[in-house]
Amino acid sequence: MQQSLLEFQQVHYTYPGARQSALNGLTLRIPAQKKCALIGQNGCGKTTLFLLANGLYKPHSGNLHWQSKPLQYDRKSLIELRQKVGLIFQDPEQQLVASTVEEDISYGLCNLGLPQVEIQQRVEQALVEFGLTELAERPVHHLSLGQKKRVSIADVMVLKPQLLLLDEPTAYLDRLHTRNLMATLKKIHASGTTILMATHDLDLVYRWADWLFVMDRGKLILEGQPQDVFAQREILEELQLGVPLIYDMLFAEGLADEGPVLEKLRQRILKLFRYF
Ligand SMILES: Nc1ncnc2c1ncn2[C@@H]1O[C@H](COP(=O)(O)OP(=O)(O)O)[C@@H](O)[C@H]1O
Ligand SMILES: [Mg+2]
Repeated sequence: MQQSLLEFQQVHYTYPGARQSALNGLTLRIPAQKKCALIGQNGCGKTTLFLLANGLYKPHSGNLHWQSKPLQYDRKSLIELRQKVGLIFQDPEQQLVASTVEEDISYGLCNLGLPQVEIQQRVEQALVEFGLTELAERPVHHLSLGQKKRVSIADVMVLKPQLLLLDEPTAYLDRLHTRNLMATLKKIHASGTTILMATHDLDLVYRWADWLFVMDRGKLILEGQPQDVFAQREILEELQLGVPLIYDMLFAEGLADEGPVLEKLRQRILKLFRYF
């Protein structure tokens, strides 16, 4: 079996005062080295999963394991966990803390208490890597949304996490910025980082992910390679999630059950349009 980085075992979490559990017996393994996508209706628990994954919340019952070891919630262990598991919030405003771009990127490194020289080096490198050199001294509140997103990714990646979690990263981005983001993620994945992205964009899932999780009401319902998950059209329709455009088209043409046709088209689409 493939090595898993982070594992949820029967995890329950209920917000204070809420009547229903946000996570309701969630069991899920994030496989190392994969580009994972997470889909599910609004309110199914995606964001809550992320907040537990980097230790911002603690499960009420059940367990989380990082590389087979149970998470610990003392301050030191949490600092270590957050270095390994980087979380990018849906809204960059929640992420950005300092006044300038440069300060913002150095913030996490300063918290780790690294030597000043190393902080400087890593910030410089991140500025270059994420195309932010020219914005280094710019106040973060003057940036466009796409730029803020880039800064929030740099903030997290400068800590060199092994697992990068992105909560609906394309939610407010236009086509160009989505493309740029996907190009950035390509580099991040190529450098050995495992990625888990929550999204509502099924076409993006189809073109990018190599593993797909489907959640409903705080639980994992389905998982697998995207083409295998999307083949389960009835379940996805029942969850009101639908399928990527290409599956709708094939279904309309009566070709949905034509395995070889579908596979040929899939290969062609991935060749032409894949976000690597
Ligand atoms: N801060 C909160 N207080 C109370 N309930 C919350 C809070 N945040 C989320 N919830 C509830 O928890 C459930 C899961 O929400 P969330 O994890 O945000 O789902 P998703 O990210 O999939 O939209 C929803 O029913 C939501 O209303
Ligand atoms: Mg959410």
